[in-house]
Amino acid sequence: MKVFVSRLIPETGLQLLKQAGLQATVWSEDRKITQPELIAHAKKHDALLCMGSDKMDAHFLNECRHLKVVGQFSVGYDNVDVAEATRLGIPFGNTPDVLSDATADVAFLLMLAASRKAFYMHKRIISGEWGPYRPTTNLGVELKNKTLGIFGLGRIGLELARRCQGAYNMKIIYHNRRHNVQAEQELQARKVSFEELLQQSDVLSVHVALSPETEGKFNAEVFRKMKPSSIFINTARGRIHQEQDLIQALNEGWIWGAGLDVTNPEPMQPGNPLLSMPSVAVLPHIGSATVQARNEMARLAATNIIAGLHGKPLPHCINPEIYQNDTST
Ligand code: DGY
Repeated sequence: MKVFVSRLIPETGLQLLKQAGLQATVWSEDRKITQPELIAHAKKHDALLCMGSDKMDAHFLNECRHLKVVGQFSVGYDNVDVAEATRLGIPFGNTPDVLSDATADVAFLLMLAASRKAFYMHKRIISGEWGPYRPTTNLGVELKNKTLGIFGLGRIGLELARRCQGAYNMKIIYHNRRHNVQAEQELQARKVSFEELLQQSDVLSVHVALSPETEGKFNAEVFRKMKPSSIFINTARGRIHQEQDLIQALNEGWIWGAGLDVTNPEPMQPGNPLLSMPSVAVLPHIGSATVQARNEMARLAATNIIAGLHGKPLPHCINPEIYQNDTST
């Protein structure tokens, strides 16, 4: 059986596919495959190993309804029409857990970088502006004993909370639909309303999935309610914050700083005003970009494909309801 892989993934995953007797074809160009190209390739294969940046909408899924399984190389799946995949009887896999540490590290890094204006200072050295020692300039803020607010405390948020409490004795508050018992017991995390999260957080870090409910959630009205000394961190999805409103919030001093691993839109253009603000740190969506995380993502994605092609339930499935009722059309 044949698998199409829409981007080169670490060898671990390709080896697993090979050992399972599958023939894998990897998209060989150094550019994102277009949807028509992806459809054309997927039509000639039994399974697809795709990226979170590939649009798995109703059009794609209906064109490729023959696929026995799709295994996505990411934990987030806002690019997938899950209901349609389920309706068509296509099992769809993702790669949870294995990138939690890597992504929490990036959130922690951005928090620290924004708090000490680190990226901005680095750029000043490059442009020959080291400047003289001045006791009153280049001042950052310290994080010790501050409050970390987490919007969506799950696996990644828990790892960030552990780091912040361990390093800076930060108090943890969070806003979720459900209680995170582990975080409450281990870190004395406290569940609060969204309003309280905005009012009390010194650092507010976003870890929710992108959904109609969270899209554009961090807008002018929300930023206005945050502390003027606070730092906003987003390592989840760029579309959860409204970029023009974030720029205004920083310019007008509604918040103090920001750290972004995800932007709205992506990629961010070089002239973006956020890139020249002292207390802003931006990275190009590299949350999961460690050797360890990417190897594990490749392993999980391949494992999902192999299970699906053997007619077995996927170990990490985003539409497990598929196994309850056979809705294939
Ligand atoms: C994920 O896995 O969802 C990361 O954001 C990479 O896309």
